[in-house]
Amino acid sequence: MIEAVFKNQFQGSPEWWVRAPGRVDLMGSHTDYNEGYVLTMPLNLDTWIAFSPRKDENIVLYSVNLDEKAEFSSSVPHSKEQKGWITYISGVAQVFRDEGYDFPGINGVIHSSVPLGGGLSSSASLECSAAEMFMKAGGFTVDRKQAALYCQRAENEYVGMPCGVLDQYTSIMGKAGTLILLDCRALSHILIRLPETIQVVICDTQAPHILVGSEYETRRNQCFQGVEILKKRFPVIQTLRDTEVKQLQTCKNSMNEEVFKRSLFIIGESQRVLEASAAISVGTEDEKSGKRLTELFNASFTGARDLYEITVPQMEMMHEAMTTAPGAIASRQAGGGFGGCMSSLVRAHQIEDFKAHVYRFYRESSGLEAKLYTVVPGEGAGTIEF
Ligand code: GLA
Repeated sequence: MIEAVFKNQFQGSPEWWVRAPGRVDLMGSHTDYNEGYVLTMPLNLDTWIAFSPRKDENIVLYSVNLDEKAEFSSSVPHSKEQKGWITYISGVAQVFRDEGYDFPGINGVIHSSVPLGGGLSSSASLECSAAEMFMKAGGFTVDRKQAALYCQRAENEYVGMPCGVLDQYTSIMGKAGTLILLDCRALSHILIRLPETIQVVICDTQAPHILVGSEYETRRNQCFQGVEILKKRFPVIQTLRDTEVKQLQTCKNSMNEEVFKRSLFIIGESQRVLEASAAISVGTEDEKSGKRLTELFNASFTGARDLYEITVPQMEMMHEAMTTAPGAIASRQAGGGFGGCMSSLVRAHQIEDFKAHVYRFYRESSGLEAKLYTVVPGEGAGTIEF
């Protein structure tokens, strides 16, 4: 299909193919920019680019999903005027150029199976596939972690979204069949095999998901304000990663209520990542670890609702639909919050009953038609050889 589209748009056939997955976080909301931990999963939903070099310096790309062509010149500095999806790609191009890398013009066709703007990192999968594209076209490679940092930088500096490294790291470092326990300070991870008895189901609330807005940045700044106050009493604290609830309590009177609540959430959430990772490794055949996962996911959701305040009413309705469904082990928000997708760990043999219940229950309570995806951990970004 993509070959036919390529032929139609550019004539000829694409020379190379690259891809990069989206991600869903299973524990650890907003812990990445606080240098904490995240339990994250690369998805078997991904963005593909089929492309060939051009003789000039133009990067010309056609998006199948949006039926839209856009272009920029690789010899002209990135412009702040640039808007829309092409910015994610021109941003990555600019970071590579800033770092001294060179690549030719490109004709390419993009297709994504990651739901666009739903909180599953469609943006990061686009950036990371673009990074693969520029490396292949330019005949250079960079260290994989460095590539993730470049893509994050493109999003921070050229898209204007002050995200942490979670999305890009997962998209680039993923290994099929495994979850990633990511340490966002050390920028290192361990892989955890997802037991076969557990299936991950993503439940898209279909409530609009808007992150580039001010709320994400506000949360981030509130966490940094918390650290400034904590530092005065405990100079070793550099980020919320270094803090314990006991220390935070001693500073409660010096910070406003919101800063206190945000900090409390992050401290608990980062700890929950370690506990959830341990419980998932044991698997849910062990009754105790199944129960612990339920508790941890519920605590993450209520914290997101009451302390970090990143939920919307549709997410509460969806959480109820997920937690009351047959086969549900544990359910919580995903991504930055404010609508978009949520995720559940489900007993593999009850998937169909789970999905039927969630769909019906959520439609009755919200009036919306949920989209449900049964997903498995996919492979990280790379070129595709046929
Ligand atoms: C978005 C950001 C990530 C991370 C999550 C919340 O997906 O891009 O860096 O902060 O929100 O965990």
